[in-house]
Amino acid sequence: MKKAKIIVNKNYIKGKSEETLFSSFIEHMGRCVYGGIYDPKNEKSDENGFRTDVIEAIKDLGVKNIRYPGGNFVSGYDWKDGIGKKSERKVTRNLAWFQTEPNEVGLDDFMLFAEKADAAPIMAVNLGTAGPKQAAELVEYCNQNGTYWADERKKNGREEPYNIKYWCLGNEMDGDWQIGTKTAEEYGKIARETAKMMRWEDPSIKLTACGSSGREMPSYPEWDRVVLEQTYNYIDYISLHQYYDYPLGDRSRKTDFLASYVDFDKFISSVAAAVAYVKENKRSNRQVYLSVDEWNVWHKGLCPIDLQEWGVEVVREENTYDMLDAAVFASLIATMLNHADMVKIACLAQLVNVLAPIMTEKGGSRIVKQTIYYPFQLAHKFMLGMVYAPVVKSEGFESCYGHADDVCVSAVEGEDGNLTLMVVSLSDKEIDLDIELEHFDVSKINSIYEISSKNETDCNTFDNPDKVVPVLVKPENGSVRVKPYSVNFIRYEK
Ligand code: AHR
Repeated sequence: MKKAKIIVNKNYIKGKSEETLFSSFIEHMGRCVYGGIYDPKNEKSDENGFRTDVIEAIKDLGVKNIRYPGGNFVSGYDWKDGIGKKSERKVTRNLAWFQTEPNEVGLDDFMLFAEKADAAPIMAVNLGTAGPKQAAELVEYCNQNGTYWADERKKNGREEPYNIKYWCLGNEMDGDWQIGTKTAEEYGKIARETAKMMRWEDPSIKLTACGSSGREMPSYPEWDRVVLEQTYNYIDYISLHQYYDYPLGDRSRKTDFLASYVDFDKFISSVAAAVAYVKENKRSNRQVYLSVDEWNVWHKGLCPIDLQEWGVEVVREENTYDMLDAAVFASLIATMLNHADMVKIACLAQLVNVLAPIMTEKGGSRIVKQTIYYPFQLAHKFMLGMVYAPVVKSEGFESCYGHADDVCVSAVEGEDGNLTLMVVSLSDKEIDLDIELEHFDVSKINSIYEISSKNETDCNTFDNPDKVVPVLVKPENGSVRVKPYSVNFIRYEK
């Protein structure tokens, strides 16, 4: 048995958590689009070929903003290949993921899907093989009226502009794996020029420039500084991408994996510091925020790419997530919440089949919600509002990322005045919590939503889909004991 103390004081406000913090990501990769959201031959698909059960699962998850169409894919993608009559679209090669792209799902199709899923897009433009002109034309197609590309949209069946608000200026341009990799100076310049033209097309749009695609990148954090210097007055967000695994894929390094949030916290703080530095250097009043537009747990190397096997519905990076993964995953959400003053957008990468909370059965018609589905769903439900900075005192443990606490905590007061503490246990022992709330109107715990499982390796499968699901626990005399590797939403209602 362990103990942890949590103090939350109503005066220590961190910021406001926004809806966009619970965004996700759909890429033309593996079975995310084809065989994932789109599967015209499947009995569960609608008249447009979209899986109705997948759409329902996305709605239940609560995702309202979805980044699209990549990822690495976007850096070689010509959006014009995906519009017009489906029968006339060309089949192309997706050089990012070594798979065939039938172009059956393109911009207008995705927008139809997004509408059905009650979500809006966060649209990425290609700055790998394309540039400002194609990006500006895309904004014209999506958000304008009365000119060539806007008329093309109308011809393709969409009368009103889509008015897409959020846009990403390329993807992971610091990475050698990227189609059209650039130096920070090269990228900063093309991002700035693209931003200018896109904004001249539609001044209301919000733009994200590519920051470092991982804290482990050799170019980090200098990349972020240089890109910010070049683009500061033209962008609204700088991106961070971060995935966590057992370091070097070594499963004996569980303690280090459990402490991933410590590293994530440092990454976010340092990019925020780069923003502060450049803002000051430019004597600017403009505030650029952070968009963690790819994050997740990713056990790499489980699906090696067979270069001889090109296809449409090929398997790429399909991870099965267990309870321990769900706990680490939840600690990443809590960490982003604790930076709510700066992190305004975050996209869980990805949404279906590829590194995903929702899996579809290959060759079948069942779906399964993985363990990571539930921390995301409940965090989205309870953790929107005013974020307070909690103080945590626990014995903790040492890791390659430094000292970690036994619990990772976030505290949010919703607009209804209800307070929720998200408490993630990173320990193999039960933990007694001593919670002290200062200056809040609420003091009594009404309910606890707990996600836990007997074994940390428990997963949800097609045959046993509800092995790990949230349960409602009645609090006993105001005391809370959390289970090993559990995710808990402790509710104080008004
Ligand atoms: O989400 C999977 C891939 O991870 C994305 O395409 C890329 O941006 C990142 O490296």
